[in-house]
Amino acid sequence: MKILILNGPNLNLLGRREPQIYGSTSFEEYFEGMKKRFHNVDLEYFQSNHEGEIIDKIHAVGYSYDGIVLNAGAYTHTSIAIHDAIKGVTTPVVELHISNVHAREEYRHHSAIAPACKGCICGFGLHGYDMAVESFL
Ligand code: DQA
Repeated sequence: MKILILNGPNLNLLGRREPQIYGSTSFEEYFEGMKKRFHNVDLEYFQSNHEGEIIDKIHAVGYSYDGIVLNAGAYTHTSIAIHDAIKGVTTPVVELHISNVHAREEYRHHSAIAPACKGCICGFGLHGYDMAVESFL
């Protein structure tokens, strides 16, 4: 079982970025725990601030991996290109948000990628990444 966790823009700042919303743990730190909790799963982590790199990564793994957990950050709300990339591959993608986007600003309520995804997890903090991986098992 091979699963990619794909984080988009500004998520490299987790732990330092608006900790009241996103918490004070870096993703690298959280990912160490995930690898122990899911020792039977081949977990890979990739982060990029660039839309094209996110799309390239979806293309690269999207015909061979068993699942992609995608936190597209703010591209969630705007990117038809990421939507099309998800549609174009065969690997199922779960949309993930650390915060409850529906309890935040109106412009975060719309997801351009949701119709292309298998499902969406939001509002459970970093624990949502565990929930998303479990959804593939
Ligand atoms: C986010 C929510 C988005 O609205 C925001 O732009 C992010 C993070 C989340 O994980 O809660 O960068 O995807």
